Amino acid sequence: MWMKSRPRRLRQNNHIRDLIAETDLRAKDLIAPLFFIKGENQRVAIDSMPGQWRLSIDLLCEHVQYLYGLGIRCVALFPAIEEELKTSDAKEAYNPKGLNQNAIKAVKKACPQMLIMTDVALDPYNSDGHDGIVDKNTGEILNDETLEVLSKMALEQAHAGSDIIGPSDMMDGRVEAIRETLDEHGFHNVMIMSYTAKYASSFYGPFRDALDSAPKAGDKKTYQMDYRNTHEALKEMALDEYEGADILMVKPGLAYLDVVQKLKMHSQLPIAVYNVSGEYAMVKAAAEKGWLDEKEIMVEMLYAFKRAGADIILSYFSEEMAKLLREH
Ligand code: PBG
Repeated sequence: MWMKSRPRRLRQNNHIRDLIAETDLRAKDLIAPLFFIKGENQRVAIDSMPGQWRLSIDLLCEHVQYLYGLGIRCVALFPAIEEELKTSDAKEAYNPKGLNQNAIKAVKKACPQMLIMTDVALDPYNSDGHDGIVDKNTGEILNDETLEVLSKMALEQAHAGSDIIGPSDMMDGRVEAIRETLDEHGFHNVMIMSYTAKYASSFYGPFRDALDSAPKAGDKKTYQMDYRNTHEALKEMALDEYEGADILMVKPGLAYLDVVQKLKMHSQLPIAVYNVSGEYAMVKAAAEKGWLDEKEIMVEMLYAFKRAGADIILSYFSEEMAKLLREH
């Protein structure tokens, strides 16, 4: 049979496949999320996230240096706060001498070149386990009252040396409130990577185990997005752009590639995607059972994010992927 057009010609060996590949993945596209705790020389496993740890600040600093050596250029820091420091006003969030601020300073000192991204949301500090302040009587998550706390929190993180503020709380108006506060205090170079389209998702389960930060009552559906919607992501996109975000993020990742693509097509800003804890846990669990090839699945997933249009990927696989990229 004669055929003019044979797509398989371009698939016949590695070199031609590499030559025509549409997407590329590099260690510098990756952000490694890291969990930390108080104390010294502590390394506590996270059961639902094999291979991820809660590290004390000393070990966190060593780990960040190691990641820099692997080619990773940005880490996202997440503190696990002791239960007794959690209050309904979440005031530990902006304690200049708190665990989070100490970690930022220590990591900056240990590895000055590494970009530090820090999370802005109240859930690690809030005794209610919500990202915003909870009204005691009604249970409502209070938007405008929360903005004040978020702004103070972002400011302390900037003071401590954070390069990128990552508001993950989904309160309305938070990007503008944070931008204004940062600028008022001379931090106009501190960047904001907004969790623009953050969906209310069960894929965050293992993360909430890692930080003991699950909501004590209710769910996050009054502030995080409904997974049935995508046009709504464009509304959030427009608001974040207007409010001064530098980078837009979609979260979770795997089940939301359509949203990544949509934002990439409609925005001039760089797009990030968060390959979240539940996505990591699923791969690890299946690999432990011998049902999937972990490495191959990891690479395929990370390329899928790039193909969908993500410029930046936050992933718990960052370290493993960076190691693999170095070998090739
Ligand atoms: C906090 C926050 C969450 C994640 C990142 N920041 C959890 C949540 O919103 O409940 C999830 C990350 C992951 O699952 O890997 N607001």
